[in-house]
Order: sequence, then structure tokens, then C-alpha cells
Amino acid sequence: MRLNGKPTLTIWLNEDGKTVDIIDQTKLPHQLVVENLKTTEDAARAIKDMLVRGAPLIGATAAYGLCLALHEDASDESIIEASDYLNKQRPTAVNLRWALEVMGGHLKPLPVEQRLEAAYGKAAEIVKDDIEVNRRIGLHGLEIIRKIADKKNGEPVNILTHCNAGWLATTDWGTATSPIYHAHREGIPVHVWVDETRPRNQGAALTAYELLHENVPHTLIVDNAGGHLMQHGKVDICIVGTDRTAANGDVANKIGTYLKALAAHDNNIPFYVGLPTSTIDWTLNSGFDIPIEERSEDEVLKVWGALDDGSNAEVLITAPGVKAANPAFDVTPAKYVTGLITEYGVIEPNETAMAKLKHKQQEARANDTNNLVNEAS
Ligand code: MRU
Repeated sequence: MRLNGKPTLTIWLNEDGKTVDIIDQTKLPHQLVVENLKTTEDAARAIKDMLVRGAPLIGATAAYGLCLALHEDASDESIIEASDYLNKQRPTAVNLRWALEVMGGHLKPLPVEQRLEAAYGKAAEIVKDDIEVNRRIGLHGLEIIRKIADKKNGEPVNILTHCNAGWLATTDWGTATSPIYHAHREGIPVHVWVDETRPRNQGAALTAYELLHENVPHTLIVDNAGGHLMQHGKVDICIVGTDRTAANGDVANKIGTYLKALAAHDNNIPFYVGLPTSTIDWTLNSGFDIPIEERSEDEVLKVWGALDDGSNAEVLITAPGVKAANPAFDVTPAKYVTGLITEYGVIEPNETAMAKLKHKQQEARANDTNNLVNEAS
């Protein structure tokens, strides 16, 4: 997607062919800073401190983080050690584990001397596939938005989203935002209600920033406004992302998602989740088995922003000494989810449909058509 009119990805190989460049998302929207990751430790820190965040982008960064480890040692032991180290940086998004498993599965059968080059090739493939997967999610979600638009006599479709499941959370397009970008490019009038998403304000700092740069009409709201807007007919559809979806269709996403799903359910508003199938953890039968990350209380107690003179500052918003809790994700039970928008199509999150989806995913992998870039070209 575009930043200042220029198509931009969130992660790319530096021109030195070894190190990796990312956009430091802790500085957005006030500073656009590219950070160069030189070591596996740099990649791990970027994931933990959320310079990169969002399930698919965490996975892509981990893949490149593993490449950086192989320069020193490409043995099985080194692959396992670096993978374990990267994997433990954030616990909820399963794409981290998924990307490292894809990398390890590809590399371990190869002779040690071929692994470094193969690792960079596979990491690049993970990035390219993510772009194509998200594009497909967008095309499937577009049809849902189109159907709503058909009934609105030219009035904009009002879409509520939470957190940032946009292109900044992936490599391009985003998951929840891909249908929105596709609809906007087709000329379907859309308007996005952007939840600010305390405590880290991914909605205010990232989603609103993305939409601004793509000229998509949007309005920032505080997290508590969604229910009210839904009661007053101002939301036609909710679309969010997910960090890990259990085999029964329960969805873990940024804290506060569950409350939006409850409000949507109470007001008969469709609640969709956009996700690549790599975000489904088939080993878990319930969303309540998904590990929920607890982050520092500082994220709740302090807010970072820009001052009138253009400088940036972090301020404490409580009396000194106040304690805070910071669970970063919650689980929305499948019964509140209207549909999962995946690269293979839109499904209801019930047992039969989930089983069929798993089968499709396995079939694609077996035929090696999971490399969607090749399949599409
Ligand atoms: O803590 P974050 O910012 O990494 O959380 C991100 C989300 O919750 C996203 O909705 C999710 O990762 C899906 S990204 C396509």
C-alpha cells in the first residue's frame, strides 16, 4: 500500500543482501523511521518491543531473523536454538511459530552448505505469499461489502475495525483492511470507524495513518464508542483480524475485540474476521487454550505522542504509584463470529466448515500450491 503516494512494504531485504529493513512502528505516525536488523537478536527485539507487530509480519520477521542466525552456523542445532529464541518473543500470534516451522521444515533436509541461500529464498517466499494471501482475502471480503453496498443506495458502507490488522500488520494489503482497500479501489463508498485501541493505540497510530495515506474515509473513535454507534445504526459490518484462531473457530485478537463482537451480536451486525489460514492453530480445540500475552503496565499508565512544537513525548496519565494490568488479547467465541474471510473463501466458523478448510489447506500444501504467488502467475 502507499505511504506518501509510494507503494511500500513493511519488511524487505537490505541492498547488502544480508540484513533486513523494517518500518519501526513504535515511532508511527509521528516519525517514519526505517530500522536495519543486523542480527537475530535485533529481529527478536523488534518483535518483542513491537517495532514490528501484527501476526503475519511477526512471522515474516522471524523468518528473516532465522536467516541472520545461519551466517554463523547453519547446523540443525543452530536452527533449533534460533527458532526457539525467536518463537518465545511473543506468545499469542501463532504465525511466529508457523513461519519458523516452515523455515525449519524447508532447511533441515538440505546439506548445511546450501541452507543459508535457501533460507533467504524461503523467507522471501513467505513475504510474497503473504501479499498474495492478503490480496485474496481482500477479494473474498470485497463481495461481502459489495452486497451490503447494494442495499445502501449509494450511501457509504460503515465498517468498524479494531486494532491494526492493516498492511502494517502484514507485508501488504492487511487482512481486515484488504476488503476495505479493494472496495475503495472499486469505487464502492466506504467509511471506516477506527477504534483507537488502548493501550498501545494501534488504531489511532497505525490504522488511521494507513487509511489517511490511501485516502479511505475514516473516523477515529474511542474504544468505548462502538456499542453506541451500533445501537444507532451507524455500523453496517465489523471486520477485525486475529492473532490465533482455534480449530473450533474461536478467535484471539487484540484486547477489546470480544466486547465489539458482543455489541455486534446484540445489534444484529455481521462480525467478520479476516485471516490467512496460517493463523489457525489446528492443535487447539478451544480459543481458551490460546496463551494470552501480558504486557508491561507502563503501556497502560503512559501515552506517547506529539507536542505542539513537533517533538515527541511520553506522559504519565495516572497519579504516580497507580498499578495497572495489561492483558494484550482476548478470545471471541466462534458463536459471535459471522464468518472467517480466508484466502480460500469465506466460511462460517462451525465444525464442518473448519474441517473442510483444513482439508483444503492440506491439499494445497501437498500439491505445493501453497506457494500462491506461483499459482496466481
Ligand atoms: O499486539 P499487536 O499489535 O501485534 O496485535 C495485532 C492484532 O491484534 C491484529 O489484529 C492481528 O495480529 C491480526 S494482523 C493481520
